Amino acid sequence: MSSEQPLLELRNISYSYPGHNTCLLENINFSINNERIGLIGPNGSGKTTLFQIIMGLLKASEGEVLLEGTAMKTETDFRKLRRKLGFLFQDSDDQLFSPTVLEDVAFGPLNLGANPDKAQKISIRTLEYLGLKGFEERITHKLSGGEKKLVALATILSMQPKLLLLDEPSNNLDPATRERLINILRGLDQAHIIISHDLDFLASTCSQLYTIQDKTLVSCKQKQVHSHEHIHPYGDQPHQHGT
Ligand SMILES: Nc1ncnc2c1ncn2[C@@H]1O[C@H](COP(=O)(O)OP(=O)(O)OP(=O)(O)O)[C@@H](O)[C@H]1O
Ligand SMILES: [Mg+2]
Repeated sequence: MSSEQPLLELRNISYSYPGHNTCLLENINFSINNERIGLIGPNGSGKTTLFQIIMGLLKASEGEVLLEGTAMKTETDFRKLRRKLGFLFQDSDDQLFSPTVLEDVAFGPLNLGANPDKAQKISIRTLEYLGLKGFEERITHKLSGGEKKLVALATILSMQPKLLLLDEPSNNLDPATRERLINILRGLDQAHIIISHDLDFLASTCSQLYTIQDKTLVSCKQKQVHSHEHIHPYGDQPHQHGT
């Protein structure tokens, strides 16, 4: 691998769902190395679809996904890519499939070749890092929505990916847990792309913001990511902010 090649690059990506005549995404060009990028945009604009294309779960109608300078063409290529990119699904129920939390978190390291002892150690350490100590034997499908989100994040972090693709990671989180997640993400070394409708969350975790406009990905250069203070009725009660 050449060090000049971006970790991930998208070249002229277009996509339309089968049976649809019009493109959902058109001519997307993008690259990322070690940046922390936020992606904001209207419902249905194609953000999740874009992540699925990057991961090879959907095949671009046109264009190429390149990992470290190499175009991903076959399923074998994308399998290699999926070992380096961690994808947090928008819906945690799509991500978690093992009976217990520990089994779910250990699945990735085991799949990457760690022996059971090592996989268990990595998993316990990851759960602790996310504030989920004691969750090891919990039944995954009985967790709350927010707990599932954090466990799903643990299943990704335990594989130590080079790039995180996080689809609405702060959904379902109470204000304190959302704050904890912000601190966790700020403390990680990896590059990330975070999809969110929560501008304040993106402002706290990302240094560049993109959106999907007219079917394509555009950098929000004029709209700098910023935080602000404001007042509203009952503001001392736990609450969330939209866009
Ligand atoms: N399998 C599918 N077949 C046809 N259309 C689909 C399919 N999956 C998603 N779509 C449509 O593609 C569009 C983009 O969906 P996508 O999930 O990528 O949007 P999004 O930007 O992630 O939205 P949200 O912010 O609501 O999560 C939507 O109109 C959706 O209904
Ligand atoms: Mg989505």
